[in-house]
Amino acid sequence: MALQARLAQQRALEEKARKNLSMFKYRIIVTSGKGGVGKSLVSAMLAYALAEAGKSIAIFDADLYGSSIPQLLGIQNARLSVDEEGNIIPVEGPLGIRVVAMNLILDSPESPVIWRGPLASRAIIELFASVKWGSGDYLVVDMPPGTGDIPLTVAQLMPKENTYAVIVTAPNLLSETIVAKAINFVLRLGINVLGIVENMSYFKCPYCGKETSIMGKFGGEYLASRYGTQVLVKIPLDPIVNEAIDTNNPYEALKNSEVMKAFRALAKKVIELVETHQQQGSASSGDK
Ligand SMILES: Nc1ncnc2c1ncn2[C@@H]1O[C@H](COP(=O)(O)OP(=O)(O)OP(=O)(O)O)[C@@H](O)[C@H]1O
Ligand SMILES: [Mg+2]
Repeated sequence: MALQARLAQQRALEEKARKNLSMFKYRIIVTSGKGGVGKSLVSAMLAYALAEAGKSIAIFDADLYGSSIPQLLGIQNARLSVDEEGNIIPVEGPLGIRVVAMNLILDSPESPVIWRGPLASRAIIELFASVKWGSGDYLVVDMPPGTGDIPLTVAQLMPKENTYAVIVTAPNLLSETIVAKAINFVLRLGINVLGIVENMSYFKCPYCGKETSIMGKFGGEYLASRYGTQVLVKIPLDPIVNEAIDTNNPYEALKNSEVMKAFRALAKKVIELVETHQQQGSASSGDK
């Protein structure tokens, strides 16, 4: 195909992806820069808590190489389907959460995705363009670690209006230095930062109730103050999280936990902030 025709096709696909994304009232990108700090857990739990609050929720797992959302929602054995017009139909998870993830496409969740950056970026655009989401209140996007090809493609496709980033960090300087890169990344791309989730904040001893800072004492407040934002919630490090994920129904196993309570508080704040922001028409948008 001639170069011009290919470029036109690419632009048309991007346009379709943008249009699809704008079907949601709000888009929440859960990102961090740092690997392993809990982005996927925060994405899944925020989706649960928003759905509990009566919102219509979809979740897009943008981590093509390390897709974790299906397992966190207990739907790892489901597969995406395609309708007669070639649209991808999301899998419906607990509380009616609609999910699109790489591991819902692969023959086996253990198959590796061996793609270079440009192919992965193209896959993201095609997925966003081909999924029949319908409309909804919130689209939560679980980002992969880092600020490479996929995060850039995702961020560039997002309508700037009503798209927000939730930044996840662990309370130590090693995490926060790298997390700062993600904050600068979203700000440069003109996305509003809603605030910081300090995950693995403390461990509460189930016997004596004493709280210990296992992952460090460098609270997210430091990052928040540097970037003029706020710590939205502090999530404890809790063994129930992994025990629950190892069951077939993580939501059921977590719904009465302290961790879930913390995520309900996060969802409440997110709802308040995006609605206030929308009413005011502007606020902490990135061009600082
Ligand atoms: N608050 C918590 N309490 C206990 N375990 C947690 C907590 N948060 C995350 N974990 C566990 O830590 C591990 C990493 O979490 P998760 O996969 O959500 O991180 P991530 O930032 O998405 O990682 P990646 O960068 O690989 O995408 C998982 O096993 C998860 O269950
Ligand atoms: Mg992840």
